[in-house]
Amino acid sequence: MTYLQKLAADTANLFSKTYGRPPRWIVAAPGRVNLIGEHTDYNDGFVLPTAIERYAVMAADKAADGKKIVQIQDVSGAEPAFIDISVPLKPGPPKWSNYPRGVIAGCLERNMNPDGLDVLLNSTVPLGSGLSSSASLEVCTATLIEAVTGRTIVPVEKALLCQKAEHVFAGVPCGIMDQFISVMGRQNNLLLLDCRSHQTQLVPMNDPAVSLVIANTNVKHELANGEYAQRRAQCETAVKILGVPSLRDASPEALENGKGKMDDVVFRRARHVIGEIERTVHAAEAIRASNWPTAGQLMYASHRSLRDDYEVSCKELDIMVEIAEGIGIKGGVFGCRMTGGGFGGCTVALVQTEQLDAISTKLAADYKQKTGIAATIFITRPAAGATIVKG
Ligand code: GLA
Repeated sequence: MTYLQKLAADTANLFSKTYGRPPRWIVAAPGRVNLIGEHTDYNDGFVLPTAIERYAVMAADKAADGKKIVQIQDVSGAEPAFIDISVPLKPGPPKWSNYPRGVIAGCLERNMNPDGLDVLLNSTVPLGSGLSSSASLEVCTATLIEAVTGRTIVPVEKALLCQKAEHVFAGVPCGIMDQFISVMGRQNNLLLLDCRSHQTQLVPMNDPAVSLVIANTNVKHELANGEYAQRRAQCETAVKILGVPSLRDASPEALENGKGKMDDVVFRRARHVIGEIERTVHAAEAIRASNWPTAGQLMYASHRSLRDDYEVSCKELDIMVEIAEGIGIKGGVFGCRMTGGGFGGCTVALVQTEQLDAISTKLAADYKQKTGIAATIFITRPAAGATIVKG
């Protein structure tokens, strides 16, 4: 049984316990880890994420009472959501319900009406850790509505519908990476996504000798949302000064030439984005060629740029990356960097599979010793995107 099959079976059992009958539909959408290409998606750049073997799963049946309410109970014990779809939807409590709420609103606009539903949500994507728990929840909801209505949404439009839900209902001005990979992930592949054209290329990563290690620092610094919006604004300032449609169109030389016209912070933000777009394209080439040391070096360079120029790292993430770098290629680590929006959350490392155990043990032990915090370490293979498991 795969991880997902077991999770789906557990969720079906929990649904039966909660609602007193088996579910008619079960759907799942994965979280993601981004190998490289951070803070480039809202700059029309490239990103290179993969879906991970951690999922938001929903089990559901038509509402037992026949009312036009989507009820979502959460196995974590969070306050349940009651979304009345007989009236126009708007944001409302509890806060987390705005992700599914926004997606249901988008589906209703497309005349995909699920009527009333009894839903049980079971997510194993760690919350607020930079692994896209929100996007997985959105994409899971959209997949459920597809299953219930028997209609499908074209993948790009499905991702954009979910992104809009996050903008409008949750008030988070995210880019498109997280929703795209949760919809379009493919087993044993990374996805090179051109965030301008929305074109995607699969980058195979099926060499069993190489694995991904995700280390959750288990810290989350609260400033993340405000800082994210501020970074976006700083990028827009750079775009205006440089007179380009987006930072995707600016070369390192053009930035140097414009240096005198912008303050140092804006200059460094733009330098990160321009360099990161280039690194992402090179990393995809390196991975296609199984050139792991080069891919790893690009990951370290990405981390330094996020730490020094973009200033979205934090002490704990830096410590984890330093430990990984200390293990080095001899110890089986090719590269490591923070992943996701930043200010806490996870690092991702590219490692030799045969050294996995030793690496995981050392990351956890040294991190504990240096910070006093217990990290959560897990291994993942590139996983598939959202799927209807039953129904
Ligand atoms: C968050 C956003 C993404 C992306 C990353 C940074 O995860 O949701 O759209 O901007 O931060 O790369």
